[in-house]
Amino acid sequence: DPKFPDKLEWPISCTIGPGLEGAIACETKIGYVNGSKGWLIYQGYDIFDLCAYSTFEEVSYLLIHGKLPNDSQLESFKKKLARYRDIPETIRMLTSFPVEEMSTMAALRLGSELMRQNKVDEVEELTDAYGYISSDEDSIPMETNPMGEKKAIYEFDTDSEDSAELIDSCYQAIAGLSSILGAISRLRSGYLPLEPKDELSHAANLIYMMTGKEPTPLEERIMDICLILHADHGMNASTFATIVVASTLSDLYFSIGAGIAALNGPLHGGANEEVVHTLNEIGSVDNVKAWYEQSRKEGRKISGFGHRVYKAYDPRARILEPLAKLLVENHPEMKEKYEIAQALEDEVVNGFGKEKKIFPNVDFYSGIVYKSLGIQTEYYTPIFGASRVSGWAAHVVEYLKKNRIFRPRGIYVGEYGKEYEPIETRD
Ligand code: ACO
Repeated sequence: DPKFPDKLEWPISCTIGPGLEGAIACETKIGYVNGSKGWLIYQGYDIFDLCAYSTFEEVSYLLIHGKLPNDSQLESFKKKLARYRDIPETIRMLTSFPVEEMSTMAALRLGSELMRQNKVDEVEELTDAYGYISSDEDSIPMETNPMGEKKAIYEFDTDSEDSAELIDSCYQAIAGLSSILGAISRLRSGYLPLEPKDELSHAANLIYMMTGKEPTPLEERIMDICLILHADHGMNASTFATIVVASTLSDLYFSIGAGIAALNGPLHGGANEEVVHTLNEIGSVDNVKAWYEQSRKEGRKISGFGHRVYKAYDPRARILEPLAKLLVENHPEMKEKYEIAQALEDEVVNGFGKEKKIFPNVDFYSGIVYKSLGIQTEYYTPIFGASRVSGWAAHVVEYLKKNRIFRPRGIYVGEYGKEYEPIETRD
């Protein structure tokens, strides 16, 4: 928060609470969450502006490269994504696993790991990320270098310090995770995975590959906004897990696997699925008050509310709520869920929420949006992952520029000097 100067002198002092509350893991230019003001900023841009004017492709480029792409940069980035969205070898390997028996997040993690294989194949084609292409030359702009070799023109804007190969893996991860999610959705419904369509945007491809139906422009735009909203969020648990793994100089795929694992939990990304279960459990608007009072009596946490950093309304929930309202107009069943959600929000915010500064978070309305788009509950957290992968990748690139392995300490509160007991005499 602003109490820290722009440039930190390490080591710094800060007050740390349980769950590393208040701890500073690193410096970052990628994203800023101001919890008291309800701000979310990516690389200097307000999330409201990015949602209004930008696309997930632009935002992913922004997060990784630190600036919005110009026309030709965006064009070449989109070409790269299209190329990496098409991962038949990874999908073939995925189909050899019992995906329909796995949780969707376990399958996503497996798929992200299998992408490494696709990457190995790619590396054989490219001597480096700006490298010499031996196949698929038509889809990539080429130039001939002074040695007469053909060279791809990707127009990456990487710093010289950046590893071009790492950036290339980031593009692969962003594009590929959506294809994997599409394949998981199809396989679990008993269908064969669908090939991505080059002419569709990232958001439209995701819906198409998951559901088999091309979205309407409104559906596409709303999914695009959801992807933008979830792409980064400061040093959240999954991003931290990702850079902890990257700091050991493990590779990007293991790092992203760690992010997916952390995101799975109901205190993090898994909360969006829990919200839908809560709305189903409440059943009708008339039951909201009684359900709320009972949950308070039992001391239960209500999914979709509260946040470690936000002590004001989460701006992402502020953006998602009207989108949910717009979508449910054509879905009577979802309209009722939306009304239950609104009534629950009133109870929480006007009840204990006011005193404890507990408001809806990003997960509260996202489930209603996804359900209205025809997506089943078990895919909400994987969609979150398919978006957050941009932030994870950007943080890995940034952190590795000044890498130092993470190695905090635990305060030992155990005993000393105990005498070793043979097994026969133990209680
Ligand atoms: N329902 C009821 N009470 C809550 C809730 C909630 N959703 N969230 C916080 N509180 C209460 C706690 O019981 C605690 O009360 P106390 O002071 O009387 O003990 C107080 O508010 C502080 O809560 P903590 O759990 O200490 O806050 P922490 O920062 O550790 O946890 C978290 C934040 C995990 C998000 C928490 O608010 C929570 O469990 N929310 C529900 C799950 C959820 O929606 N997670 C998604 C978060 S957003 C994301 O990850 C994408």
